[in-house]
Amino acid sequence: MVGGRNDDQGHYTSWHFRHEERLMQSRDYPKMDAHKKEHKRFILQIQDIQRKFEQGDKSAPSKLNVLVKIWLSNHILHIDNQLAAFLLYDGQSV
Ligand SMILES: [Fe+2]
Repeated sequence: MVGGRNDDQGHYTSWHFRHEERLMQSRDYPKMDAHKKEHKRFILQIQDIQRKFEQGDKSAPSKLNVLVKIWLSNHILHIDNQLAAFLLYDGQSV
């Protein structure tokens, strides 16, 4: 991840996304395509920040912090929660 820290967070994020996407696929989640696009967009944004860091952009770590905060408050609290409700209630509440 940005700043030379180990890559455990990146591996966990990839594993988490794959896990969610397998669940969506197996349960025929109606919002799967949009959800997967959000995952892909987040990964591309992380990769862009990583590239900028490697090119010497000293603001890259703070950009990563902002991106993760936005991700937490948007994707996880809303989009992932919709998926969780769908999975828990077999699609009846989404
Ligand atoms: Fe997700």
